[in-house]
Amino acid sequence: MNAALFVLPLLAIPALAQIIDSPDEVVAGIPVNYTEAKAGWFELPDPLTGSDGKPVTDPATWNEVQRPRILGIVEANQYGRVPPRPEAMAFDAFDEGTPAFDGSARRKQVTITFDKAGEQFLDLVVYLPAESEGDCPVLLNIGWVANNLAVDDPGVKVGRSWNKEAQRREPATEGGPFGKLRMIPLALERGYAVAHFNYADIEPDDVNGFAHGIRHHFLGEGQEGQSKPGAEDWGAIAAWGWGISRVIDYFETDAEIDASRVAITGVSRLGKTVIWAGARDERVACVLASVSGSGGASLNRRRYGERPAHLVERFPHWFAAKFASWVGREEEAPWDSHFILSLIAPRAVLLQTGSTDKWSDPYGEFVAARAATPVFHLLGRKGIEDFPQPPLGEPMMNRLGYLMHDGGHGMIPDDWPVFLDFMDKHL
Ligand code: GCU
Repeated sequence: MNAALFVLPLLAIPALAQIIDSPDEVVAGIPVNYTEAKAGWFELPDPLTGSDGKPVTDPATWNEVQRPRILGIVEANQYGRVPPRPEAMAFDAFDEGTPAFDGSARRKQVTITFDKAGEQFLDLVVYLPAESEGDCPVLLNIGWVANNLAVDDPGVKVGRSWNKEAQRREPATEGGPFGKLRMIPLALERGYAVAHFNYADIEPDDVNGFAHGIRHHFLGEGQEGQSKPGAEDWGAIAAWGWGISRVIDYFETDAEIDASRVAITGVSRLGKTVIWAGARDERVACVLASVSGSGGASLNRRRYGERPAHLVERFPHWFAAKFASWVGREEEAPWDSHFILSLIAPRAVLLQTGSTDKWSDPYGEFVAARAATPVFHLLGRKGIEDFPQPPLGEPMMNRLGYLMHDGGHGMIPDDWPVFLDFMDKHL
């Protein structure tokens, strides 16, 4: 039986209204629906139907024809195309293994520069378990703040923060609890290296951030005369994910790290980022996406919580300009977020959501995962085999996995052991 025929009846979510007549909330002047019965009755395009309308039934056709085709569709229409690794890229490993955290870890720091002048760069910090003897699997976190604010370690280089009011980067000297990476001790104990970089090193997260980041730097290479990226060129999410790929370029040069066992994680907009980075870069072995929501794993078609309309109104810089042209006609789009998840197959991906985080439409993420599952099957792996959802806090740990914690938007300490168990199982 065609996989789509198997999936689609399960996706037929009962609905009453085409239009939300009584919104549960209004954000940026756009209605928000939180009533399941109004979420829409829709069909999803089948990731296993080729351009000729025929089913894709073997891994070779998937890998050689269908996967590149789908990748191109999502790239052009949602996140935008990225440039290759820059020729001028260089690694300055200025800290090559200093004892840290009372001797439980060894710290490395590397500045990755993207241009000859060294104006475009990111700072990476890596903690290895003290007893690690090389080829250590690594959890890479793309984080919200500079490395020195993400960890309690006075030896870390002071990074940069974006000052929105002044519209400039400044030394990251002050930070509160926000953005702290608290799972490091647990990950080290379980034999993983942990790495961190600040997403704003690639481009500040601001509608005007473009002028200060990597996308602007690359304008001019083949885009002479343009003042901004073209309709299908990279938005900030693709740029942040491009930064993840450049860190993996570095891992490939470091004998202490096993670049074939890289897990990547990020929360919220950075959950969206890790999903897309994992979809694009096949060197990513495992994606742990926390509350990625709309513009991440939840479906554009579902009229529930945040929608593409909200995204392009409030965060236009995150996406390729063309994404906005699909607002209001999501059901005509040749893709939805299950395509993005299917691009990660057969590599591992865990979607972590929160039960009260309605804005992110956690159930929409589950439905998308279910719809991506036939691609995992084609490649000999399991995905979401049971419908409906498991109870709160009970993870589904297949190659394509799902966890809904009891709580809201974010990653909570109870999620950490699940992430590490998932890595143990799939790395
Ligand atoms: C906003 C946005 C979400 C995003 C979140 C975040 O709430 O609407 O799409 O995930 O910010 O990144 O914290």
